[in-house]
Amino acid sequence: MGLGTMGAGIAQIAVAAGHETIGREVTLELAERGRATIDRYLSRGVEKGRLTQAEKDAALARLTLTTEVADLAGCDLVIEAIVEELEPKQELFAELDRITRPDAVLATNTSALSVSAIAERAQHPERVVGMHFFNPAPVLPLVEIVRTPKSSDAVVDLAFDWAESAGKRPVRCNDTPGFIVNRILIPLLNDCVRVLDEAGVTPEDLDTAMTNGAGWPMGPCALVDLVGIDVHVHASDALHAQLGEDRMAPPERLVAMQREGKLGRKSGEGFYRY
Ligand SMILES: NC(=O)c1ccc[n+]([C@@H]2O[C@H](COP(=O)([O-])OP(=O)(O)OC[C@H]3O[C@@H](n4cnc5c(N)ncnc54)[C@H](O)[C@@H]3O)[C@@H](O)[C@H]2O)c1
Repeated sequence: MGLGTMGAGIAQIAVAAGHETIGREVTLELAERGRATIDRYLSRGVEKGRLTQAEKDAALARLTLTTEVADLAGCDLVIEAIVEELEPKQELFAELDRITRPDAVLATNTSALSVSAIAERAQHPERVVGMHFFNPAPVLPLVEIVRTPKSSDAVVDLAFDWAESAGKRPVRCNDTPGFIVNRILIPLLNDCVRVLDEAGVTPEDLDTAMTNGAGWPMGPCALVDLVGIDVHVHASDALHAQLGEDRMAPPERLVAMQREGKLGRKSGEGFYRY
């Protein structure tokens, strides 16, 4: 559900793993854009020798596009990656719960919302779990399999096994704010950004310090640029609202960058120019 940044990546993982996949978007134009993204990434894989042209063609042929939620009625697993807002997600899960088979697993890729809250209007919340992929989904191995107090053991195991068989590295966690990685990474990145102003350090020097002194694969400023300033600010606000610690609130510098439209790589400028 949703073929944006994350949904297209997740659909790519599914078709590459051999699963017949239906991608639902709000318009066919957006769905086609998602398919084009997958096509581009798979083509790059062919160029780099990671898969053959025939494997790429077969993978793309497993993807069907639709704008109708009803077309997902026969699915074994639905993974939702629509906008990060509670109301549309709740509405969607109530509908998915009505139209899919009772044994279908319903998963959300939410980063910062409560999975329990998303499942609130579903009649069968025991079949709802979180499957939290990381950006870019086809590249980063981790998937957090998020259990709510109502998720059944069988559903958690199915989601875990699906991710593993698709070549990912799943871990189990609970429906707590930020799950595992974001609970740690969001306040940590906020600390990094605050250090820029508190210690009068440039983004270049901060990134050089963390890559060369702490062994980070990428500097914190480059990472926030990649994630998107707006996405990071939104996630910080959500974590701060849930846990209340000051360091979880987005630093003023990031809020100002968002106001000025400096959103990182996607807008051409963040801490760096692209
Ligand atoms: N971007 C990230 O780094 C990241 C990482 C992990 C998880 N997430 C989560 O993944 C989800 C999607 O994020 P994204 O960055 O891909 O957003 P995005 O804006 O790139 O994509 C969302 C897509 O969903 C579509 N959409 C909206 N409502 C829909 C509906 N009812 N049915 C079908 N499609 C619908 C939109 O048209 C859009 O194309 C969010 O919950 C977000 O928190 C994002």
